[in-house]
Amino acid sequence: MQFFLDTANLEEIKEAVSWGVIGGLTTNPTLVAKEKGSFETLIRQICRLLGEEKPVSVEVLATTAAEMEKEARLLAEIAPNVVIKIPIGVEGLKTVYNLNRSAKKVPCNVTLVFSANQALLAARAGARYVSPFIGRLDDLGWDGVGLVRDMAAIFKIQALEAQIIAASIRHPLHVQEVALAGAQIATVPFNILKQMTQHPLTDLGVERFLTDWKQGRH
Ligand code: G3P
Repeated sequence: MQFFLDTANLEEIKEAVSWGVIGGLTTNPTLVAKEKGSFETLIRQICRLLGEEKPVSVEVLATTAAEMEKEARLLAEIAPNVVIKIPIGVEGLKTVYNLNRSAKKVPCNVTLVFSANQALLAARAGARYVSPFIGRLDDLGWDGVGLVRDMAAIFKIQALEAQIIAASIRHPLHVQEVALAGAQIATVPFNILKQMTQHPLTDLGVERFLTDWKQGRH
């Protein structure tokens, strides 16, 4: 499973990229709204930090297919690694279909997916990525990881090529659960990625090695 970073914060991106584990990045309007400066400049900087090969999802704000497609094509001009994030729905499906079959193909990440049927439709319309929001399902007492498991099984049985980006990850346990459930990608907030590096026994182990070393050398 690959790790994408779920943020629009440049400092977090610089730091996480330096760890060598980041394969892409996702933003959404909420994350972008937390940052300063022009939207286009921010996206350009993010795309540059990730490097040309690594996908950066940028979400459209328009709500009709015609407007979404127009917006998507402008966003795709910002950098070669921009992927267009489009909310699931009839207008979203039309947009994905049009962006995918045109001569100037634009890759899409269908977002705000909360059911296997939504995921099936997104994959069939031609989405490169489909993003189930597992934390928001859990918040309502539903089973976010279960959705990822179902999607992975269905995509395999149906030979659908879309990749699953498990999103709305709220804690480190979510990450290992979606890896087991078959997600190809987890998009993880920086604080959770950092938590994943830590274990109290690792800290204790390092401390003990240093103490033992010092004691033995005197
Ligand atoms: O990738 C989607 C994610 O940013 C949404 O997370 O925590 O707002 O549900 P959350």
